[in-house]
Amino acid sequence: TYKVIMDTDPGIDDAAALSMALNDPQIDLQLITAVAGNVTVDKTTKNALTIDNFYGKHVPVAGGAKTPLIKEFEDAARIHGASGMAGYDFPEPTDKAIDKSAVEALHDAIMASDEKIVLVPTGSYTNIALLFIQYPEVKDHIEKIIAMGGSLGHGNMTSAAEFNVFTDPHAAKIMYDSGVPIVMVGLDVTMKALITDETLETIDKFGRAGHMLHEIISHDFDHNENGTAVHDANTIFYLLHPEAYTTKDYWVDVVTDGPANGETVADVRGAYHDGKTNASVCVDVDAAAFNKWFIDEVKNFKD
Ligand code: BDR
Ligand code: CA
Repeated sequence: TYKVIMDTDPGIDDAAALSMALNDPQIDLQLITAVAGNVTVDKTTKNALTIDNFYGKHVPVAGGAKTPLIKEFEDAARIHGASGMAGYDFPEPTDKAIDKSAVEALHDAIMASDEKIVLVPTGSYTNIALLFIQYPEVKDHIEKIIAMGGSLGHGNMTSAAEFNVFTDPHAAKIMYDSGVPIVMVGLDVTMKALITDETLETIDKFGRAGHMLHEIISHDFDHNENGTAVHDANTIFYLLHPEAYTTKDYWVDVVTDGPANGETVADVRGAYHDGKTNASVCVDVDAAAFNKWFIDEVKNFKD
């Protein structure tokens, strides 16, 4: 099993990633921390609790950063709905967020673990940047960070920048410069691993959870004629099935101002950073395997 912490901004695709992390028997989810992103942090915290309790789980949830480190906060409610998880009428969560900030909760959980933690951010990296600034000692206790965000090609916010990195580029820069091994799960693969309409119809028949995921994913308008990009779920698929991804090791820099603000730039020539690398960048994915895995996971959820 993998000891995992998710840092998230649910978010429809975050909810899908959380569903897998909460239910897969190979994942021992220690903590969920929420960050402002798709919607405000009050809402992302509530949504994380909603998904946690939807499955009858009580993984601790801690609320985190309300705004990016420096940039002004801009949400993505136009994509994920005003609540952040539009399309399904969720029961109110019964649990409350724990009485610790995300940074304190991350520090405590990482240091308390007997095994190194796999940290999985699917929102902006503000909580992680604050954690590394305040408690640099945690870095040695993190096996790797599997981060949704960035792109070697075009962005989805601007021509250059993907949403999670665009929202808080300064935090992304701190994370990429931290020395902790990073797997970049960016648009290069998440726009290829589309969930097909056929997959959606299949999961709709798998009881309450399958129906819920069908409803929210159908509501996400990040789709085209080939399917829907459930970006964040790729992090969990990578964790469990890295063989489904092609990766290249690069040094990834983050642009923090100007028209390319929030762009992730890979040093493809290996010249600028003396051949050193800080990330394994996912450049290709087996989309059929992703769909099959998605179906298998949901089929095995206990209703
Ligand atoms: C990322 O942006 C958010 O809207 C999604 O939840 C995902 O994490 C994709 O660019
Ligand atoms: Ca997200």
